[in-house]
Amino acid sequence: MAGGLNGRNVLNALEPLPEMTAVLYREPPFQYPEAVSAEGSWITDARGQRYLDMSGGAAVSCVGHGHPTVVQAIRQQLDTMAFAHTAFFTNTPQEALAERLRGRIGDDNARVYFSSGGSEANETALKLAWQYQRAVGEASRQVVISREHSYHGNTFGTLSVSGNPGRRRASAAPLLDWPRIPPCYPLREQAGDESLAQYAQRSAEALEQAILEAGPGNVAAFICEPVVGSSLGVVAPPQGYLARVRDICDRYGVLWIADEIMCGSGRTGTWFAFEQLGPQPDIVTLAKGIGGGYVPLAATVLNGRIAEVLEAGGFAHGHTYVGHATACAAGLAVQTVFDEENLLERAAMNGRHLAALLNDRFGQHPNVAEVRGMGMFHGLELVADRETLAGFHDRPGIATDIRRAAMTEGLVCYPGSITVSGATVPHIMLAPPLTATVDELAEGVDRLARALARVLQSGNHS
Ligand SMILES: Cc1ncc(COP(=O)(O)O)c(C=O)c1O
Repeated sequence: MAGGLNGRNVLNALEPLPEMTAVLYREPPFQYPEAVSAEGSWITDARGQRYLDMSGGAAVSCVGHGHPTVVQAIRQQLDTMAFAHTAFFTNTPQEALAERLRGRIGDDNARVYFSSGGSEANETALKLAWQYQRAVGEASRQVVISREHSYHGNTFGTLSVSGNPGRRRASAAPLLDWPRIPPCYPLREQAGDESLAQYAQRSAEALEQAILEAGPGNVAAFICEPVVGSSLGVVAPPQGYLARVRDICDRYGVLWIADEIMCGSGRTGTWFAFEQLGPQPDIVTLAKGIGGGYVPLAATVLNGRIAEVLEAGGFAHGHTYVGHATACAAGLAVQTVFDEENLLERAAMNGRHLAALLNDRFGQHPNVAEVRGMGMFHGLELVADRETLAGFHDRPGIATDIRRAAMTEGLVCYPGSITVSGATVPHIMLAPPLTATVDELAEGVDRLARALARVLQSGNHS
């Protein structure tokens, strides 16, 4: 992967470690370029190479890097009171941020539980569901149904409900084996003789089937991402799917948990993605964009019905940094930036622009099966054969190749892959800062095209 491309100065990203380091990296034995500064949509490394951040890391940097409003709010909170344990005190930032999120969900009785990351937010949601069911006399409801090709976190609980075979295998942990239903994935699952609306209903009915098989009295909750992010390359369900999910959950007393850790926080052009897709979930989880990458911050938002029950009987849970004052101050400042810079409207508008750029560039590409997404959240699914949708039989590491080629082009994007009929089907997730300019979006699409050309032409086997 090292070396020049068309005479450009390129980066030797992710090469084997030249020397020992004290850090256990995510993917040893590779080393990573050292990020030393970041501003707006750009990250610069120690060698001066600039990267256009077209995935916000992993749908994190919604207000861009180095935003002065957020930086200033953090400084101010540090000067005032960085932390006071919420087992003893509440604090103004967590109260104010909870109020803002309650306003966003439009339920005056909703409650918010703050934690530090997506896995914690989902773990909290699972415990809320179990403890709620027990409190209402349904202690046998312990099973949580989820979907294939999903990722809800890396703790035992959240990995147990994740349908990501690679991550489950890699953890080598004794996970709970609960039912998983197929995702709503029209490109590959909609039958030829079926309308999109019919497919949406059929796909949701898999949930009813799974509840009946598990025994309706045993199921506590169903968890899904309203728009699947990195596990499938940004797949939104057709209208009707989530409404049917809601109906089925209601019919069988099952709580619906919407994991909006990637697709929420304004990414799709509304604060919550579900606002555009169907009715309200019982519990919604947020992370990544809620703190914008400035601090570790996550939130589990529960509706008034669950809150009332748990406030009466108590919620047995907790982490040291629940409701951390400085983290919540940063989250509050992110909310301010959304309001002051009209980021929801901009996400919707620039998202349409991004969609047009991607469709122009890749809509007819022989190796792109689909360009899809909502707002500033888009995905490309790549195939070896566009007609048959067959994946790459001899390139299990193609997603890694794409990530490295993109970094070589000075681009951060988020590739992943699934396996279909034994072949690797890669996808690329794009989630740029909602503050990105149209020129930056165009530049990002150019860089992505160059990176893809490099990977597809090289036939580089991993
Ligand atoms: C949809 C979704 N849920 C949960 C998580 C876990 O979040 P974290 O890595 O912050 O624990 C992720 C992380 O990528 C995610 O994409």
